[in-house]
Amino acid sequence: MNNLIDIMEMSTEEIQELIDKALDIIDNPQKYSDVCRGKILATLFFEPSTRTRLSFESAMYGLGGNVIGFSDSKSSSTSKGESVSDTVRTVGCYADIIAMRHPKEGAPLVASRSAGVPVINAGDGGHNHPTQTLTDLLTIYREKGTLENLTVGFCGDLKFGRTVHSLISAMSRYKGIRFILISPEELQVPRYIITDILEKNNIPYEEVTSLEDSMPKLDILYMTRVQRERFFNEADYMRLKDTYILTPDKLRNAKESLSILHPLPRVNEISVAVDKDPRAIYFKQVANGKYIRMALIMKLLEVNA
Ligand code: CP
Repeated sequence: MNNLIDIMEMSTEEIQELIDKALDIIDNPQKYSDVCRGKILATLFFEPSTRTRLSFESAMYGLGGNVIGFSDSKSSSTSKGESVSDTVRTVGCYADIIAMRHPKEGAPLVASRSAGVPVINAGDGGHNHPTQTLTDLLTIYREKGTLENLTVGFCGDLKFGRTVHSLISAMSRYKGIRFILISPEELQVPRYIITDILEKNNIPYEEVTSLEDSMPKLDILYMTRVQRERFFNEADYMRLKDTYILTPDKLRNAKESLSILHPLPRVNEISVAVDKDPRAIYFKQVANGKYIRMALIMKLLEVNA
């Protein structure tokens, strides 16, 4: 594996290897603190980010490496009209590995063809976010001890939520997974996910609108933000943005063993009162993002402890 553009490029065995490596990094950080000495990660963020960019940077520093990059494309020569291909070809002269976020779907794939160094997709438009998926899988594995035999509910903006698309694709390959897809009709998962992934592989799923009715069945509840930046029409966003707000009251019928995830940022869809509930693990999920990215950087740079 030279790049990570789509989570489906990784087999479940490769994902498990990364999870196991991340668990070892968590237990033995000192063992890994120098493995990337002399290596440089470039973070090229053409779209805003807090967790993804900073966890990549923290991951590289945690491995003893260095970081260059930009968090606002206006400060790069993109603003003078430079193409993605020329930008990454240039950055590939200065860095050993690139993590790139871009609003255009497919831009990291294009970048990977001319960078000359490994490229990691850190989110492309409404398409994919494979390192968030790795973070989510590590989080679920740490909580449940398995990635099999789980009922997973996705709630909110399932149309534009790229983390949802990547996680459904990835989890479809594990035994005994069932999905409950909770959204307003306008924000249902794209049809290709239903036909090419769920129906093609006979994965049980339901598309519903009620979070409360689904709650008792869930092992995992994956809440999402309505993605304002992907709407063409502000009025539609305003109408849909507060369709689901998770409050302590709505968790009354949930399992004791439920795990509540959210890729964050949160806007209004989870009340802060839920943060105190031990089932709310979205800030543990944030922390896991650093460790799985450390494992991924090591894999792509072919370095070992
Ligand atoms: N989850 C996630 O991608 O967060 P950021 O947009 O802050 O990177």
